[in-house]
Amino acid sequence: MLLVSLVYASSVSASVDEQAVARILETSRANNEQHDITGLLCFNHRYFLQCLEGSRTRVNHLYQRILQDPRHSDILLLDYAEIEQRRFDQWAMGYVPSGQLARQQILRFSGKAEFNPYEMTGASARGLLAELGSL
Ligand SMILES: Cc1cc2nc3c(=O)[nH]c(=O)nc-3n(C[C@H](O)[C@H](O)[C@H](O)COP(=O)(O)O)c2cc1C
Repeated sequence: MLLVSLVYASSVSASVDEQAVARILETSRANNEQHDITGLLCFNHRYFLQCLEGSRTRVNHLYQRILQDPRHSDILLLDYAEIEQRRFDQWAMGYVPSGQLARQQILRFSGKAEFNPYEMTGASARGLLAELGSL
């Protein structure tokens, strides 16, 4: 199977709070398990940063659904690559809320004090997610 990893940033819609994110995660975990998709979702009230891993076809289909989801906007593809193995193989969709995003980590990967995935390169976004995933 051809495995890929896709990373994007997006802006959280005004109506989306922690409870709404909990619902997104619930659906995501159920769907992803069924489609053998794994990944990690970061959320800080303003932005989402998500990595999706799995078969190329399935990740592409999911991404097309996610693009149409009104719970976020301004979706920006940061990184897309074929991979040999998964980084988040233990998670149908791991979750890192803003409280767990350490200031030092954000500084190290983005050069900025505030978490803003739009200002990150694909490599830094991948690096940050990989580090968060190994906590
Ligand atoms: C930030 C964000 C991340 C999402 N991640 C996933 C995901 O990993 N897997 C998934 O199935 N749906 C995800 N969704 C939800 C999809 O956009 C869509 O609502 C869902 O897949 C539809 O599932 P259903 O047909 O079972 O209702 C995400 C939505 C948002 C806003």
